[in-house]
Amino acid sequence: MFDFLFRKKKYEPIPIFEVLGTDMHCHLVPKVDDGSKCIEESVECMKALASVGYKKMILTPHFQTPRFENDEDDIVRRYEEMKRQAADMGVEIDICGIGGEYRIDSGFAKRLENPRFLQIGGKYVLVEFSLHQQMMGCDEMIFDMQMKGYEVILAHPERYPYLNVGGSRMEQLKNQGVFFQVNVLSLGGFYGEEAKRRAFEMVEGGLVEFLGTDTHNSMYAQALIDLTHNRKVEKLLMNHEFLNKTL
Ligand SMILES: [Fe+2]
Repeated sequence: MFDFLFRKKKYEPIPIFEVLGTDMHCHLVPKVDDGSKCIEESVECMKALASVGYKKMILTPHFQTPRFENDEDDIVRRYEEMKRQAADMGVEIDICGIGGEYRIDSGFAKRLENPRFLQIGGKYVLVEFSLHQQMMGCDEMIFDMQMKGYEVILAHPERYPYLNVGGSRMEQLKNQGVFFQVNVLSLGGFYGEEAKRRAFEMVEGGLVEFLGTDTHNSMYAQALIDLTHNRKVEKLLMNHEFLNKTL
């Protein structure tokens, strides 16, 4: 009799992410990290991304020691294969690039030496820190990347509790020329209230150049669809400029 009270409303997608155009952070190359587990799941997520307004997407599998010891050549092969399959399965979003989400860890310096080091948009490198603490020597690694001509994007700074908004460390990273990429799902509270508050503060404070979905699987895709009904997020997208469209 009262089961309607417990049934979760299933939202229809609204294309609010059209203003961004390109998603530049997601884990939809199947079976290479903690993202999508099969091509069917990747395709479902890609269709969800298209339904909320994205026209293009760049994939960014994890590179992390020792958890995801991916090899660039292997990732590119799998990406090309996935692209062919996705086209056959009716995906209309433009899958336009393969990068990586490189963890700055003990294996990073060696990865940086690889001439196949994967970039986004021809010049950006997406990096992440550990969620618990930064690695010692992290600034030197960022500097080394910049010396090699890369622009550095830090993935989801709102998710690092040790990085205070407006604090000296954050200021130092910005002064060092690091671009910030906030996860759109953080804005809806997907990673908790603290990350949500910090995500809003960073975007409203003009500290954020890119937004990414960080889609891993269908649960993220549904959360993204639900987020399109969040008026506060829609307003934030309308009132701020991001560099996603330049990719
Ligand atoms: Fe990610």
